[in-house]
Amino acid sequence: MTQSKTASDPGSQPPPAGAPGLAEQAEQAEQAVALAKVRFRLADQAHPAIAFLYEAARSRLEDTLSRAPQAIENLAPPTPQGKPVPPDPAPDFSAPRRPVKDINPPPLPQVFIALQRASEDASVSLKNVADIISHDPGLSAFLLRLANSAFYSFPGGVDSVFQAVRLIGMREIINMAAAKAVSGLFKESPRKDLLEVEHYWRHSVACALMARSLAVRVGRADPDRLFVAGLLHDVGKILLVISEPDMCEAAFILARQDGISLYQAEKRVLGFDHAELGGGVLDRWVLPKKLTETARLHHAPALDTEGAGADLIHVADVIALSLGLGTRPDCLVPPLDPGAWDGLGLAPEDLGPIIADCDEKLDSLRDMLLGGEKPKPAVNVRQRPR
Ligand SMILES: [Fe+2]
Ligand SMILES: [Fe+2]
Repeated sequence: MTQSKTASDPGSQPPPAGAPGLAEQAEQAEQAVALAKVRFRLADQAHPAIAFLYEAARSRLEDTLSRAPQAIENLAPPTPQGKPVPPDPAPDFSAPRRPVKDINPPPLPQVFIALQRASEDASVSLKNVADIISHDPGLSAFLLRLANSAFYSFPGGVDSVFQAVRLIGMREIINMAAAKAVSGLFKESPRKDLLEVEHYWRHSVACALMARSLAVRVGRADPDRLFVAGLLHDVGKILLVISEPDMCEAAFILARQDGISLYQAEKRVLGFDHAELGGGVLDRWVLPKKLTETARLHHAPALDTEGAGADLIHVADVIALSLGLGTRPDCLVPPLDPGAWDGLGLAPEDLGPIIADCDEKLDSLRDMLLGGEKPKPAVNVRQRPR
């Protein structure tokens, strides 16, 4: 890559103060192409959807580098804890493995289970849902904050859980409450070099938003369930890092060394992958079978013969990873299953509005879920009625 920092075109206007010069822009454009090539090296760039996503990724990378050239350090190809790839000496892939059934998830919050049951009960009322939420003060506070944030634009403000349920809608509020309840389960990663909790939730929320938009776009009957499916699809990944960090590191190194996807490397190192573990976790949480199947099959959507929606979650996952919204900032895009894509009946350009919708909502929703930055006050929230 060119290292020159001086503008080389004598006929050009001097750039405004602080803006990159022409040579710098050219260098950033080259860096963006190089990073995009690395990110997409496992994907078939001849596929029209991947070609569209590659171009979206390249242009975003170029934009990121023009605003923050130092971001290159986080985006460059990774090495866990700075170890070289391929490693020397190679990790011991023959170490004793824990069977998948022996990895136990933390218990699911009762409020989540109650809300999922309510979501499947046709006779449940707005008041029933508001009552369930009101028993959990943290959840109630979150939903009021969400209802009063720029995420929704309700005139006049929202000052009760019942009002929030009525205005936002029962299905939507159950999803948001479920997201909040689950986001409290995993707050720490023992190995930030393998997975950062913040990136994990950003990826999960991005997949949830994309899955819902895709479902609406292609006319699926259950966009709300697919939102939750997107949110939970990689739950096995974070549990694996927490319970088997050394094996995860071995899988990570193997993936980079052999140029394969992480889930393929996990299978070789552990005998199972995070998708299988995630399916088992949702099973143990006694969640609906379709949610279990979307988590279990999101990297093998062709095996979803029951129509659980693994195809849609698979595509949502590929879109999120293409845009760099992975569980690590330097994620790789896994191969897109062409059958899953064809089944949606979309043109690549249809992804533009789906990505824009996610861009608009992602940060505020993730921040509110994780209880991080305070959301910007809604511009239209006036004095609340007394
Ligand atoms: Fe995954
Ligand atoms: Fe994922």
